[in-house]
Order: sequence, then structure tokens, then C-alpha cells
Amino acid sequence: MNRRQFAETTAGALSALAMGAWPFGRWQERRQVNGPRLTDTLARLGQIGRNPATGGINRVAFSEADREARAFVAGLMRAAGLEVRIDAAGNLMGRRAGTAPNRPPLMFGSHVDSVPEGGNYDGPVGTMAAIEVAQTLADRDLRTRHPLEVVVFSNEEGGKTGSRAVSGEVEARELDLVTASGKTIRDGIAFIGGEPGDLGRAGRERGSIAAFLELHVEQGAVLERGGIAIGVVEGIVGIKRWNVTVDGFANHAGTTPMDARRDPLVAAARFIDAVHRIARDTPGRQVATVGRIRAEPGAPNVIPGRVTLSLEIRDLEMAKIDRVFDVVRRAADETGGATGTTFRFDLFYTSHAAPTDERLRRLVEESARALDLSTLRMPSGAGHDAQSIALLAPVGMIFVPSVGGISHSPEELTRAEHVVNGANVLLETVLALDSA
Ligand code: HGY
Ligand code: MN
Ligand code: MN
Repeated sequence: MNRRQFAETTAGALSALAMGAWPFGRWQERRQVNGPRLTDTLARLGQIGRNPATGGINRVAFSEADREARAFVAGLMRAAGLEVRIDAAGNLMGRRAGTAPNRPPLMFGSHVDSVPEGGNYDGPVGTMAAIEVAQTLADRDLRTRHPLEVVVFSNEEGGKTGSRAVSGEVEARELDLVTASGKTIRDGIAFIGGEPGDLGRAGRERGSIAAFLELHVEQGAVLERGGIAIGVVEGIVGIKRWNVTVDGFANHAGTTPMDARRDPLVAAARFIDAVHRIARDTPGRQVATVGRIRAEPGAPNVIPGRVTLSLEIRDLEMAKIDRVFDVVRRAADETGGATGTTFRFDLFYTSHAAPTDERLRRLVEESARALDLSTLRMPSGAGHDAQSIALLAPVGMIFVPSVGGISHSPEELTRAEHVVNGANVLLETVLALDSA
């Protein structure tokens, strides 16, 4: 945690105290979480996988740091009175019995894995708040009718493996993908205690979950710019990802005339620019990104023979993703013709766009209003575990502001008071769902 974040955390803890969230003393008139305790557990999680030189969080899925973080979180779940198990996909599931056991559980949670050099709020805010809600209910000995399931999904950043295994979307060939940890998804799931050979056992039936709620940082600047406390997510974008292979002809960098080259890196450069222009100039809110590129053999005195890169397109409408891809594909064919190279696209990941449930949107809004917090309905440009669970159950998402809209960066920050706000809205919404 860098100095700015430490100052924020301390100030936040003090402001949480000022809001009466005193950890040991009287219970507030309104049901509220224990702000200082939540601020503290979030800060302690932030020490796991932190790069002291940059403050960046390196808790990539299936790494030692990820496993250490999951053990830490499992301990907090048990302290909150939850019965903890690890499912076949490596998801941590903490369960608390309800007074009406025949009702399907209310599920809420998020993830703790990060991108390389990421932040400690994308995932952890929703996860630690979910545990804090369970701890608060235990402190208060407040029994819900529905069973409760607090969940920490596995490998959210590397393809939402855990939540997509629950919804039955993971294809066998995905298990051989190598993740940022260096492990395949298969080995990674085993590393954190799952059973990749029996992934189907993590699957849940439609209707087996009463509702799913995820608190998450916005990862954009809409709430901060508008001075809004709570984002009520209307829908989560769909995502498609391709591996793109550009083949040319490897040759000597010194003796090959410029007009005799079939250089895939030149073709890739034109392609990347075309992707940016097409996504920017097509009417709508789609986005497209080339996040990874590699030239082979990658020597300064060799014209590459092959370039591989990633392509990702996102939109709230899956058909729009396909339409944008068709335009990108045509641009690639033109570039190939002009440079004597060929383009191949291999789709390796699909995450479906998901609307949230209108009843849950209203409950989140009512909960926020009861806490005198302003709200704004908005889409999510980031993918989330909630969109997989939406295939099985009604889902709701609660956003809290990101400072400067920054995420997937050591600069990622959400102020403690906003974390506590989000947790209180989560608590209120869980209780409202339980009594609905
Ligand atoms: O990539 C995403 O949208 C998410 O942060 N995993
Ligand atoms: Mn996330
Ligand atoms: Mn993320």
C-alpha cells in the first residue's frame, strides 16, 4: 500500500468510526457493518502479493499469493461462522444455514485474484464486504430464512473459470490454457484445492440459487465525476477473445530489400491501428483491445516470420460484438493482401452479456436510499462473475466509486467510506431479499 492509500485507509477508518461503526461498542440504530473491521481486513488482504517497490498487487490466479489469500479469506469465513468448502473449480464457498432450509441460498461474493501489478480493490471489496456481512449477522445473531452462501470465485481475471464452472460454461480445452501464474488452468485449480478432473461437480442447476449479489468497484469514473455514492448495474458486457496469428516470411534484416518483404509485424501494426479506429468510429459503446503481441523469432536482425496477438471485443449486445468482428476481419484480409501476409483468428473465450434483475436493481436502490446514499443506474464495461451466475439466477451488482476511475493498476483506490457504504447496501439488500 503506498503512502496515499495508507492515508486514505486511515482517514476512512476514522470516518467509519465517526459514522458510529464502533467495533466493540453499541449497535447502531440502523443495521450496519463494522466499518473499521472491514477496513482492517481489506488492508490485511492487501499485504498479500503486494510489490513493495510499486504497491502493485500480484495475486494472479493459482499463484502462491493467490493460495495464501484464499487461506486468509477462508479463515475469516470460518470466524464469521460459515461452513467453508472448496468446490471442484476451486471456488471457496462459505455456507450459513437458514431457518427455512428448503429455500435456495442467497449467494454473494466476488474474487481475490488480481491482474499482474493490479490493485487491492477489484474483487477484494466485494469479497471482504460479503464476509463482513456474514460476520455482522453472526455478531447480531440475526438468522436469515434463506441459507447464505458467501463465495470467492477462482481465476476471475484469467477467464472467470470459477463462476463459469458453476454455470457450466467452461469447455474442456480451456483447462490447457496457461495462466499468468505459469500453470495451466487444470493444474491451477488443483493447486488451490479443486478437482479439475471433475469440474462438472461445481455446476449448479438453474433455480438452485435464489439470487446472487456482487459488490464491486466501478473501475471507471462515472460515479466519482457525478458525486454518486452507489452504482446500480443494469447489465454486464459480453466479451469475446481471439488469438490472432499473422504469418509472413522470416528473412535477413540486412539483405532483404524493403519491397521484397512479407513482414507480419508491419501487418500487425496496421491491424492494431485498424482495430482501434473501427471500435472508436462505429456508433455505440463497444470497445476493442489488442493487449498482447509477440514476434517470432523476436531477434533485432531477423524479419519476423510470425506474429501472435490477442484481440478482445466487448459490448452489452453479443450480436454487436460479432458485427464489429466482421469489420475487423475484413480489414485484416485487406492488410494481408497489401503485405503478403495471412491472418488467422482462433476464438478462445466467450463470456455472455448479462442483464441484471430489475427486482434486485430496485432493492439495491431502496437499500441505498434507506442509508441516504445517492444512486445511478449504469452498465458495467468490465466483466464480472455475476454475468455467469446470471445464467442460473437473478443477479444484482452494486458499484462504488473508483478514485480517478483507475483500475488494474497499483493506483487503483476506493475510499474506505465508499467501501463501507457498499457493504451496508449489500447487507440491507441481502436482508431485503431474505424477507421478500
Ligand atoms: O477484464 C475484466 O473486465 C475484469 O476486470 N476481469
Ligand atoms: Mn473484478
Ligand atoms: Mn479485474
